[in-house]
Amino acid sequence: MEQATPSRTALRVALRRAAHQLYDSPVVFPDPIAIPILGETHAEELRRTPLRPDRPFSVALRAFLVARSRYAEDNLGSGIAGPGVAGGVRQYVLLGAGLDTFAYRNPYPELRVFEVDHPATQRWKRELLQRGGISIPGRLTFVPVDFESQSLSAQLPAAGFDHSAPAFFAWLGVVPYLTLAAFRTTLGFIAEQPEGSGVTLDYGQPRDALPFVERLAHDSLALRVQLAGEPFQLFFTPAEIAAEFAGFGSIEDLGSAEINARYFRGRADQLAVRGAAGRLLCAWK
Ligand SMILES: C[S@@+](CC[C@H](N)C(=O)[O-])C[C@H]1O[C@@H](n2cnc3c(N)ncnc32)[C@H](O)[C@@H]1O
Repeated sequence: MEQATPSRTALRVALRRAAHQLYDSPVVFPDPIAIPILGETHAEELRRTPLRPDRPFSVALRAFLVARSRYAEDNLGSGIAGPGVAGGVRQYVLLGAGLDTFAYRNPYPELRVFEVDHPATQRWKRELLQRGGISIPGRLTFVPVDFESQSLSAQLPAAGFDHSAPAFFAWLGVVPYLTLAAFRTTLGFIAEQPEGSGVTLDYGQPRDALPFVERLAHDSLALRVQLAGEPFQLFFTPAEIAAEFAGFGSIEDLGSAEINARYFRGRADQLAVRGAAGRLLCAWK
């Protein structure tokens, strides 16, 4: 992404989480701060032009975005509670946090939260928080890091991250924008964390792995993010990403059918994910 400019895709996905609060019922990912964090201008814009809430592509994208946030927080809850996935998570690290609001509604008194993001995006988020009167909890630490040029393994411990305690990492909406080298360096750091640690992320399948009609949707989204200055660079098939996670004890990798069965079953509206492009993964050490 561009060095001095906050992530535009971070705003776009935050607008869709906010639209979910306004236009979908029942809500799959309840977030009372999704609208306040946008600030008055964007929130007002959203109410006036509601991101085409009924267009099929828009509905499916919104469904994927709210499912991935809900999936991350569900898995975080499991990691904290155990015992199914070892339990004992005491640190939550949001890699490429964007306008994620978990830290400002954190229900776990013992959980420390680290928001890692590109410095330009993090500066902009802090301005939005201040303008929106959203206070910064004492259990939250901001860690500015550019994954392409800085090392997470140096910056995170320097910010107070405890290498000896289990941690859960959320890496949502970031992997497709990275180089393979940056992805592997960050995953290598996560893999060094103690037993009971885990990570969740979403990833996209390569264009060639998609059916023809989905390639058109892929091209349209790829063009939009490229025009936003944040081109897609990294895709995996399920077999390829499984190989990247070979050192982890358990991996769950969900496609559309599993995501719909888990989060969108029995709805009267059309909110559901579609197609083979986007997948959700969670892995535990
Ligand atoms: C699509 S947004 C997703 C934000 C957030 N995780 C969410 O789900 O709302 C992509 C995020 O990745 C971050 N990002 C992209 N490239 C990065 C890099 N090289 N270093 C650090 N952060 C990066 C952006 O700053 C932005 O916050």
